Amino acid sequence: MGLKPATNPDVEAVAIELSIDGKSVTAKGGVSLYDVISSTGKIIPAMCYHYTFDPFGSCGMCLVVQEGKKAPVRSCTAKATAGMIIRTEGDDLFQARKKAVEKHLSVHPLDCPVCDADGHCELQDTAFQHGVTNLANAKQKFIPEDTRSPVLDFNMNRCIACAECINVCKDVLMIDALQFMKKGGFNQVVPKGDLALSCEFCGDCLAVCPVGAITNKFSKYLYKPWQMKKTTTTCNYCGDGCQMYLETKDAEVVRVTSPLSWKNKWGDRAETAKGHGGLCVRGRFGFEYIDSAARLKQPLLRKGNQLVETPWLETMHQVVDRFSEIRRKHGPDAIAGLITARCTNEELYLFQKLMRAGFRTNHLDSSARYGHLNFVHASRHALGIGRSPNDWEDLTKAKAVILIGSNITETNPLTAVRIKEAIRVYKAQVVVIDSTVTNMAKLASHPVLIKPGTEGLVIDGIVKATLELDLIDEDSTTKHPQAFKALKAAVAHVSLEQVAAHTGMSVEALKNTAAIFAEASRSIILCAEGIVRQPNGYENVLKLIDLAWVTGKLGQPGCGVNTLTEEPNEQGAVDMGAAPEFLPGQASFNDQTARDRFAKAWDVTLPAAGSGANLVEILKRCRSGEIRGLYVIGENPLATLPASMEVRAALDRLELLVVQDPFLTDTARMAHAVLPACTSAEKDGTFTNLEGRVLRVREAIDPIGESLPDWHIMTALANALGCQWEYESSNDIQAEIMKLLPGYYNLGQPRKVVPTMDRYLSNGYTTDVAARYRASAPSDPKNQRPFALLMGQVLYHSGKLSTKAPGLITIAPNTGRLRMNPQDMERLAVGEGTTVRLTSDRGSMQLAVQPDHSIAPQTCFFPEHFNEPPVKDLMSIQVDPVTGVPSFKQTRVTIEKA
Ligand code: SF4
Ligand code: SF4
Ligand code: SF4
Ligand code: FES
Repeated sequence: MGLKPATNPDVEAVAIELSIDGKSVTAKGGVSLYDVISSTGKIIPAMCYHYTFDPFGSCGMCLVVQEGKKAPVRSCTAKATAGMIIRTEGDDLFQARKKAVEKHLSVHPLDCPVCDADGHCELQDTAFQHGVTNLANAKQKFIPEDTRSPVLDFNMNRCIACAECINVCKDVLMIDALQFMKKGGFNQVVPKGDLALSCEFCGDCLAVCPVGAITNKFSKYLYKPWQMKKTTTTCNYCGDGCQMYLETKDAEVVRVTSPLSWKNKWGDRAETAKGHGGLCVRGRFGFEYIDSAARLKQPLLRKGNQLVETPWLETMHQVVDRFSEIRRKHGPDAIAGLITARCTNEELYLFQKLMRAGFRTNHLDSSARYGHLNFVHASRHALGIGRSPNDWEDLTKAKAVILIGSNITETNPLTAVRIKEAIRVYKAQVVVIDSTVTNMAKLASHPVLIKPGTEGLVIDGIVKATLELDLIDEDSTTKHPQAFKALKAAVAHVSLEQVAAHTGMSVEALKNTAAIFAEASRSIILCAEGIVRQPNGYENVLKLIDLAWVTGKLGQPGCGVNTLTEEPNEQGAVDMGAAPEFLPGQASFNDQTARDRFAKAWDVTLPAAGSGANLVEILKRCRSGEIRGLYVIGENPLATLPASMEVRAALDRLELLVVQDPFLTDTARMAHAVLPACTSAEKDGTFTNLEGRVLRVREAIDPIGESLPDWHIMTALANALGCQWEYESSNDIQAEIMKLLPGYYNLGQPRKVVPTMDRYLSNGYTTDVAARYRASAPSDPKNQRPFALLMGQVLYHSGKLSTKAPGLITIAPNTGRLRMNPQDMERLAVGEGTTVRLTSDRGSMQLAVQPDHSIAPQTCFFPEHFNEPPVKDLMSIQVDPVTGVPSFKQTRVTIEKA
């Protein structure tokens, strides 16, 4: 339709003047007239329009009179032009709109009493507003309901053919899973090809449907909209931090809805650069874990071989007595703690305070150790900032994006929508470099499939190509001639031809990527699991920073090197100091000024500088018997780490294992005491998303059973250990954090971080860089097992938590099958369901296979969310010597027919 906002944010759209209802209005030229009218505060009915996608112009509701035109015009599809004289009110327009409503109602079943949208229906509202009372001529459609999708039902008798669902899916999500099809004389919406719906199941089509034609399978017939309490909160699945409404009825979560809605259709389309307000499948349909029957409702205490339900008081006495005894006999260093980054900032803060000020140990870590800390350490080391510098708006308005090692639509689907908008609206060139055929690769201008594990070499090649093609920003490099010389010397041995041979990325593609990145005005790098969760993740981030430096992209508006966080609060875990190397605010644990400040604030002597074990070291010390008591909050190392980490042996050796979790996890089954914790739906607090925005988490329901918020349990534990904590709510903890970290909360806006590399370039860079690009000779493929086995995330799951959500398990159950490229299956003469023997250097197991076109040849994949069979145990582990991050998501395997 061409009604998009200016596609280049560097060029301001022409300002025009037009008259609306006698008032002069200034607007951007070329945008929808409807947007201009709504910007004046006038809301005229519109049933097929939504500002997030191109206008369709089917409902005939948004009629206005334009001077000089005989008939009323549809304001949604009309472009605003200078000098227009528009009238939006009057009896003629009222009657015309009324006719349009009558037309829609004449083919609508009026089964409102059993419709989910009853009371929340635009057709009802507009019929009411226009006094439509003649319903005698309604034609019945008798279209059978399409219930084939696992999450959505399509009742096309109710459809008014507005196409909002089709447009959001095609235009915003770029999935294009729906279409109109004429059947039995009526236009109806069907999944593409009239097959069962096969898509990402985000439910955005449901959100924008103005009537009850698309319904949510999980909450159908469970409520009337007015019976629901609506709580605005932040999603607990990934680091995108989407805002959502948890809707509850009688203390039960019945559905999740999004800010994206037909109710919220008025806005300037340019506003979607900050997000379109939708959710992904996990956020919208993954809520049922909250009141799952498997939730722990009572503390459990080990009595003999069994975990027995025990009152809180008795359990806490036992826990405190036994921790105290360990501390008395063996000192505080015999105790350690692990926490999940699904906890709130306030809980993560309290956790590190409890470990340091309560137990007096610095052996503590969080799940940010699984990869995010590689990024944080590299970025702090080179740039002095410990998080991604760019926000969603920067990503949306980027002109060039290098997306390396990230299956972004699976891990961070709503950040992926930002990249989609960059492609669709802002015409960004996007280079996707991955060893999987990702969904984003299919949309990108430059998809590049590489050999698994060669991401680091690819970066070497892009840096080398940048230097070879002289794509250098002189302002940046001339300030630091020694550093630049050192970088050139470090990459002197890199041969683009060899990189191409080892990685599968052609010399031309390496050069193209270098040029695209260097020449664009706003260039973004996004690196994720394929970099930060892989060996050399720390160094590879540093190399990406080198690339941004020499091309002059550091600190420039809309440019930067970024990462994604898979769990909702990995950034918060680092910021709150839930790592042995950091105090809150990412102050170094060894920094004497910071130590003095926190010691004074907490009125304690901190554990010695230089002390502290991270996740891998904690488990090692559990195995050796040095650590005897372990406090685990929401983490499940037994189910996460491969057998080679000997987690079971480590936990077996403990005198006291206390697990605090909403569920009885594999690790909890080994515990001496299990403390039932709430989910994020039952507590208040905040998460810090991947942009650095601090977002509110709000209590939507009372705690299930006798479960308690993690902060509450930690406060009780600390006080029993002799601390005098007076926190009565998450707000009290927040008040303390605000004093210690002024500006952290910052009203939900990311604090601006300004990367500066000058300090590093003049101090330490020249020595570092020589080692960074050391010739990494990949092992001879002939001596390798022929397949790469990858474990990773799938869209429908997040960690192990989503496996407790029946909705998500219905969509994506554990098939227990190894996913393979169909060509490889043909070569091995195995069909779907055939059992194969999968062998790595760590062991062997049998499992069935299934074809998957997104898996590259000579690669196979198993989702990391499932342990049946325990494919993770075939993995080897490599620990980064600088950051302590363990990598265990990739190995080489042999596949034979069993
Ligand atoms: S659920 Fe999402 S992906 Fe599927 S059809 Fe609806 S909008 Fe498209
Ligand atoms: S299903 Fe809903 S959103 Fe889609 S065309 Fe019909 S009425 Fe519109
Ligand atoms: S899982 Fe991530 S992308 Fe999906 S709704 Fe939640 S925060 Fe948003
Ligand atoms: S809103 Fe303009 S025709 Fe439907």
